Amino acid sequence: MQHCDSPLHVTGRSEYVDDVPAPAGMLHGAVFGSPIAHGKITKLDLEAARSADGVQGVYTLEDIPGSKMIGALALDEPLLCDGTVMYQGHPIALIVAETDEAAAKAVKLCQVEIDPLPIVTCPREAFANGDLLQETRVFEKGAVDPVWETCAHVVEGKIDLAGQEHLYLETNRARAIPKEDGQMTVYSSTQSPSATQKHVAGVLGLPMHKVEIDVKRLGGGFGGKEDQATHWACMAAIAAQDLNKPVQIVLNRVDDMKMTGKRHPYKQDFKIGLDAEGKILAYEVNHFQNSGGFMDLSGPVLERTVLHSTNAYAIPNVKIRASACRTNLPPNTAYRGFGGPQGMFPLEVAIEQAAAKMGVAADWIQERNLIEDGYVFHYGQEVEACNMKRTWKEAKEHFDVAGTKARIEKFNAENKLKKKGFAMMPVCFGISFTKTFLNQGSSLVHVYTDGSVSVTTGGIEMGQGISSNMIAIVSRTFGISHTKVKSNSTNTTRIANISPSAASATSDLNGNATILACREILEGMLKVAAKEFDCEPDAVKIIDSIVHKDGAPTELTWEGLVLKTYFSRVQLMAHGFYTPPDIHFDPVKGYGKPFHYYTYGTCLMEVTVDCIRGTYTLDASQIVHDLGRTIIPTVDRGQIEGGLAQGIGWVTLEELKFTEEGRLISHALSTYKAPDAEFMPKVMDLKLLENVDNPGGPLGSKAVGEPPFMYGIAAYFAIRRAVEAYRELNEDEIYCPMTPEQVLLKLYPDFKDEVSS
Ligand code: MTE
Ligand code: HPA
Ligand code: MOS
Repeated sequence: MQHCDSPLHVTGRSEYVDDVPAPAGMLHGAVFGSPIAHGKITKLDLEAARSADGVQGVYTLEDIPGSKMIGALALDEPLLCDGTVMYQGHPIALIVAETDEAAAKAVKLCQVEIDPLPIVTCPREAFANGDLLQETRVFEKGAVDPVWETCAHVVEGKIDLAGQEHLYLETNRARAIPKEDGQMTVYSSTQSPSATQKHVAGVLGLPMHKVEIDVKRLGGGFGGKEDQATHWACMAAIAAQDLNKPVQIVLNRVDDMKMTGKRHPYKQDFKIGLDAEGKILAYEVNHFQNSGGFMDLSGPVLERTVLHSTNAYAIPNVKIRASACRTNLPPNTAYRGFGGPQGMFPLEVAIEQAAAKMGVAADWIQERNLIEDGYVFHYGQEVEACNMKRTWKEAKEHFDVAGTKARIEKFNAENKLKKKGFAMMPVCFGISFTKTFLNQGSSLVHVYTDGSVSVTTGGIEMGQGISSNMIAIVSRTFGISHTKVKSNSTNTTRIANISPSAASATSDLNGNATILACREILEGMLKVAAKEFDCEPDAVKIIDSIVHKDGAPTELTWEGLVLKTYFSRVQLMAHGFYTPPDIHFDPVKGYGKPFHYYTYGTCLMEVTVDCIRGTYTLDASQIVHDLGRTIIPTVDRGQIEGGLAQGIGWVTLEELKFTEEGRLISHALSTYKAPDAEFMPKVMDLKLLENVDNPGGPLGSKAVGEPPFMYGIAAYFAIRRAVEAYRELNEDEIYCPMTPEQVLLKLYPDFKDEVSS
């Protein structure tokens, strides 16, 4: 089976929010955002916009009929600015007009005067000012302080880790359609239909049952639409309710890049201590998260940063401090890995620098410290069924790391102007929402009288293949062809209280719920068949759409049995609900068993740097990954390669640049570079761990959406090592990403001074 949307995607026939023909009289919204990053509005003049051609409505905070506040955790964010602008692009007013051109023109007529306030873009500065969104959290295991002096090697340093733009192909958008009796239907490009429903109901002053959210698919979400699709859906609904007409908002790329939050940039301090044998004895890290202007998902993101700060390594003494620092950037948000990548990066830097000091290869230290069964993380969870060392060992052997290293060493000895670098990256990523209550999934399965089946779950299709996985799960649980199964849009009237499609857990939660729903239907059907054959239900099985009795095929087909079941007045539809057993986490103590299980893997990366130009090519990525039992191999491979691509992009080309005034200067695709197919490693080898199972996942599968992102970190260190093969590096602060410009400045450090003089 393939990704079920592939034929539609490649022929351009898949429908997104604004591909569906517009209903009669539909209006278009555009948003007026703040021109500066921080200040108090002293005068807002919207009269010119209001009387512009085609304009039907102008809305500010006062025009919101219900609750004015939104937010994933705390309702701390006014839907439109409350008088204090917190970041450049902060929505101040919504303009609704007959065409999107008219709305865009009217936005240009909006006038605002703002008394500037000090702009803070650096989280260290916000921290020094005491401007935190929550209390600083401290996690400790053992005690680091007494250990430093017993260490043979201690290294410390500072890191400046940049954020990342989601760059989903489909920008944020929503279409709100007023219905009879004050009801509202919203087609939204959201990962969280129920959160959108709750907030739309809130701002409209309606009970949730009057609001229906429908989502066919997203053109990518990557976390960017977990919380930040809500705003546009709420705004469209407010205007639609007021004007009693359909209203659509489609952000253009620049507005989307300026107005929405991204992966959190972090500043970090780290300290690592090792014994002479390379064993890590203590690790301390201080995370200053650049949270942006409002809370959004910063708290949970920071929590995952803390949980993954020791990645795949067993460390006896750990101290982690984590602060959510309020700055004048757009509220930063979920992004593939959800803080995990920012947690793992500084430990890799620490190991890199310790290795340099000890005169050993970083992978020598990495290997000596990998986790295994029985290890207890600093948050209390014990590792079981651990495949970390297995993926590492298989990667080394299967892809001949010794041979690669020897080849690279020879190449570097023989070449002056090109240098190669190599790095290994182990990943251990926890699967489950760390907010335990979110770990629930629902599925509604309908078998129609012609034998065709439809499945609706809480899962959102955003390209990751949840629809295909659900179809595969239904087809395998019933024993019928996948061509008989269709996956529906996600809709809040069919499934209630949907958790976001996030945390890589969508397939797990909704897939297990789907299995339960199918089993309930199947049980009734098998009883009907057993009666027909005068046998016990367990003697009956459906294989390839044929009803089998005692292992032998009968004349009865799936379609035949469906009809018999219907005529016997036995139900052909069922709802399944699933929640993983045994997970718990005390968010205050930061202790428990937050994860249902872990996903493991190891990535090898080889690169070549052109030491005249500072450019580089990625020669090969070689991955050994633990997928459990794959549901659809091509879909899983797509997730691994896609995650890798995004991870590589984060640490290499993608440079999110804000000025000190909080102005995003990489705000379009002309200035923000993302990897394309050409940039990806020339060789991309993937070896799936064999003979593995995962009792926690549907059909023995493991979650795959986010973990491969962190393989990309290997590219950062591979490039660094290639540069080091050319000349020694000398830095006060480690900066990531490693853009070609950065490489050039590292190759020719005096060049920078020459240019600026
Ligand atoms: N893959 C595609 N094609 N598009 C996406 O938006 N989002 C990623 C990942 N893979 C995404 C994707 C993120 S951030 C997550 S959490 C998971 O998919 C969510 O889907 P899952 O829970 O089904 O893995
Ligand atoms: N991952 C993704 N999204 C989330 C999480 C998480 O752990 N917790 C809350 N939202
Ligand atoms: Mo993914 S960052 O959990 O949407």
